[in-house]
Amino acid sequence: MSQETVTITDNRTGQSIECPIKKGTHGPDVVDCQTLYKKLGMFFFDPAYITTASCESRITFIDGEKGILLYRGYPIEQLAEHSDYLEVCYLLLYGELPTKEQMGDFKGSIYQHTMLHEGLLDFYKGFRHDAHPMSMLVGVVGALSAYYPDAMDIGNPEHRKMSAVRLIAKMPTIAANSYKYLIGHPYVYPRNNLGYVENFMHMMFSVPKEEYQFNQTAIKALEIMLILHADHEQNASTSTVRLAGSSQAHPFSCVAGGIATLWGPGHGGANEAVIRMLQQIGTPKNIPLYIKRFKDKKDPTRLMGFGHRVYKNYDPRAKIIRNVCHTLLQELDATQQPLFEVAMELERIALSEDYFIERKLYPNVDFYSGMIMSALGLPLNMFTVLFAVARTVGWIAQWTEMMEVPDMRIGRPRQLYLGSKQRDYVSIEQRGI
Ligand code: CMC
Repeated sequence: MSQETVTITDNRTGQSIECPIKKGTHGPDVVDCQTLYKKLGMFFFDPAYITTASCESRITFIDGEKGILLYRGYPIEQLAEHSDYLEVCYLLLYGELPTKEQMGDFKGSIYQHTMLHEGLLDFYKGFRHDAHPMSMLVGVVGALSAYYPDAMDIGNPEHRKMSAVRLIAKMPTIAANSYKYLIGHPYVYPRNNLGYVENFMHMMFSVPKEEYQFNQTAIKALEIMLILHADHEQNASTSTVRLAGSSQAHPFSCVAGGIATLWGPGHGGANEAVIRMLQQIGTPKNIPLYIKRFKDKKDPTRLMGFGHRVYKNYDPRAKIIRNVCHTLLQELDATQQPLFEVAMELERIALSEDYFIERKLYPNVDFYSGMIMSALGLPLNMFTVLFAVARTVGWIAQWTEMMEVPDMRIGRPRQLYLGSKQRDYVSIEQRGI
């Protein structure tokens, strides 16, 4: 069968090019227009890359219309039910579910790297006492390459693997240390007899005089949250990691860029923003006033935790996490808390208002994840940090995939220039005359 193509014609000149159509395993076909500039001297205009496929990937698939999310082909619902976070990490990194032996080796290598170089602990002291932990995360992760120079050759697959393991292993420690630094408590060292999630909670909440008491429903809730946030194909932070990596930068620096991008309230910062919004609303009786503001185009206030660039019917992660959230809050006897009451009433009203229905604005994963973290006693400014811990595997898996492409080229978007036409320099004496 001959290659299917799309013809692009410049109606001003009649010149045409044939662009090959590429087909994926799932999802819309893509038109390969790499020759557009060479042949027609034009670029595509696609701000925010709404219709641009920036790479080929075999890691994660999203169908935003049907509400489908697959990691390496496995539905997120099945992974959330049957898997654990480290198994999902293995799957995302290596493409297949591990055998028992592979899983044992992988866990062993993660546990071997959970500690931080002691020099890095001093690094924290340079931060102000009230720094946002996300800013610490950007700094400390960026500084990792200064402490682990033994795996700097990104052309070496073993070095790449080591960097991936180190990032996944150390991220909970870096995150928990940021919190301990802020509250002035001593850092709690990781313990290898604990699972990944338990270890994080231990480093966050144990103190030298008292061990953290684990609640299995809480651990399970956090485990599911990590699984749901582990990867989300070419979102803003992942695209940042890929773009930075395309210049051959070290993955620790690329991931620091990803963390910085994640911090924004339009992306990972939304879970924190949801709770701030719920606190601001305060009580269900104030909701109608806020709904009015969310709909008012002159008012920049948005209903945080609602809407998604890709999911236009529902966010499958939100469906899973909503149940987790209800179970946890019931077990913790927290359903009567004003925050939860406001959230449930807001959800009910927003889902029945024309404004939100017409625009396909449904609760996203962050609407519920914030409530879970709040119920677990995690401070507000740590919410996005936890998202970053979860997403680290996605970033490093996507970076690794990109590095394995034989003809990988540096990323370089183009622009539509609307500035001044070329003009000659005017000396300062001549200006304004
Ligand atoms: N509240 C009120 N109106 C909204 C909202 C909202 N949360 N989201 C979108 N709209 C309106 C928007 O004003 C526009 O209206 P109109 O067509 O009349 O101009 C319409 O819905 C389409 O919005 P958009 O901005 O074109 O949608 P987008 O796909 O560019 O933005 C979004 C997606 C997630 C940035 C946006 O929905 C938003 O700001 N949501 C709140 C923040 C949030 O919860 N972010 C977390 C996303 S999930 C986590 C992750 O995967 O990173």
